[in-house]
Amino acid sequence: MTESEGNKNEDCHAANGVKPGRNGMVKNHHHHHQYQKQEKVYNAACNGELYSRPFIESFEETPMLVAVLTYMGYGILTIFGYLRDFMREWKIEKCHIAREREEQKDFVPLYQDFENFYTRNLYMRIRDSWNRPICSVPGATFDLVERSSNDYNWTFEYTGRVVKDVINLGSYNYLGFAENTGACATAAGEVTVKFGVGVASTRQEMGNLDRHEELEKLTASFLGVESAMAFGMGFATNSMNIPVLAGKLNHASLVLGARLSGSTIRVFKHNNMQSLEKLLRDAIINGQPRTHRPWKKILILVEGIYSMEGSIIRLPEVIALKKKYNAYLYLDEAHSIGALGPTGRGVVEYFGLDPKDVDVMMGTFTKSFGAAGGYIGGKKDLIDYLRSHSHSAIYATSMSLPVVEQIITSMKCIMGEDGTTVDPPNRLFSPLPLNQRWQLQQTGSTGPSGPGEVLNMTNMSLTLLG
Ligand SMILES: Cc1ncc(COP(=O)(O)O)c(C=O)c1O
Repeated sequence: MTESEGNKNEDCHAANGVKPGRNGMVKNHHHHHQYQKQEKVYNAACNGELYSRPFIESFEETPMLVAVLTYMGYGILTIFGYLRDFMREWKIEKCHIAREREEQKDFVPLYQDFENFYTRNLYMRIRDSWNRPICSVPGATFDLVERSSNDYNWTFEYTGRVVKDVINLGSYNYLGFAENTGACATAAGEVTVKFGVGVASTRQEMGNLDRHEELEKLTASFLGVESAMAFGMGFATNSMNIPVLAGKLNHASLVLGARLSGSTIRVFKHNNMQSLEKLLRDAIINGQPRTHRPWKKILILVEGIYSMEGSIIRLPEVIALKKKYNAYLYLDEAHSIGALGPTGRGVVEYFGLDPKDVDVMMGTFTKSFGAAGGYIGGKKDLIDYLRSHSHSAIYATSMSLPVVEQIITSMKCIMGEDGTTVDPPNRLFSPLPLNQRWQLQQTGSTGPSGPGEVLNMTNMSLTLLG
C-alpha cells in the first residue's frame, strides 16, 4: 500500500463544490450532520463525468484525543519498558524471556534491538487481545477457547471453558456462506460422500472433473465474461498467473506475481489517478531505461476493494487511463466480488461498467463464497492460454470437490439461481439501481484489442501497482 494524495486539480474541486482530501475522497470528521451536508453537495472527483452517479467515499479520521492518548500510552509503556530493562540488568526484575541468552551472544542475533524491546515490554502485556484460539465456525459470532496466564502472557493455559458468541471482526466470511449447516454445507457433504476430498491429479492430467467445468462456466456467467478458470488457492492465482501474463503491487500475492514476472515494477500513489497518469505518460515518453525502446506491454494492477484500507478503486478513471495509454488492466476483486454491486458482481458492477473493459478479472473464493481458491476471468483466448501455460494448471492438484461444490452453491444463491428466494446470509450489496449499470461514458480512445495481444508480449513489460 502506498501513501495516497488528493486530486490536485483545484478547478475541478471548485466545480464540484467539495474539496476532497487524500485520494480525492471526503473525510468523515465524525460529525453526522457534517457528513450529511457533504453528501448533499454532490461530490465527484475531477473526472466526475466518468461516473454514472456521485462516488463518495468517507473515512473516519482518528479523533485528536484518541491519537494523543494512544501516543501517550505508548510513551508511558516505553518509559516503563526501559525501567524494567534496567531492573533486569540489575537482577531485580525476574522475567528475562525473549532476550538473547549469554551463550548465544556470538551468533547472529535472533531479535533486532527494538523488536525485542517492543515484544518484551509492550506487546506481551496486551497480546491476549489477539491470537485467541477459535473453536467454532467463523460466522458473524463465534466461540473462543478460554485461556489464562500466570506469567504476564508469556504462556497460556486452557481453562477448559468456552467463551460463547463473541462478535467476529476478523474473518472474511463476508456473506456468511462459510457455515457448517445450510445448503452449501449439505452440497459439499454430499459431493464428499460421492467423490471424496482429494482429486489426486492436475487439471491437465486426470484431475479435470465436470464439477470443475461447471464452476468455471458459472463463474464466467457471474462475471459477465467469455471464459474463466478456477485455481485451488487465491494467493497462487495471482502469484502463478501474473508471471504467465506479464512474461519476464498492494497484496503480497500481487507483488510476488509481479516480481516473479520479471517485469519492471513502478508503484503509483494509492488510488491516485494523477500519479498513475504521470507514470503512464513517463513510461510512454521515455520507454525502457537505457535503450528507450517502447515498453512491449504496460499492465496496471489494482485491487477492487483495497485489502488494507477498504477503499474502493476509482475504476472508471483507471479504465479511461488504460484506454488512453493502451495499457492492460488486471483487477483483483478478492474483497469486492460477491460483496459489492447491486447483485454482488463486484466493483465493475458497482460503477455500472462493462466487464469487457477489464482485461484480467481476478478474484478469490475465500471471502464472499466461504470456500477456498481463486479465479481468473476474461476473453476466451486469455483463459485458453492460461489453461495451457499456468503453472497452477500444469503442476498443482485440482480443486477439491467439496470446495468446488461450496462455491457453486453459494454463487448460485448470490445469482438467484438456486431455486429459492433466499438472500445470502449477510447480504451487504449497495443499492445502485439496475438501470444505472453499464453506463460508463466512452472516452473515444482505442485501447488494446484483446488478450491475444496481452499474450504476444512476453518480455520488456512494465507493471504499475497502486
Ligand atoms: C487482494 C488480495 N488478493 C489475493 C488474496 C489471496 O487470496 P487467498 O486468501 O484466497 O489465498 C488476498 C487475501 O486476502 C487479497 O487480499
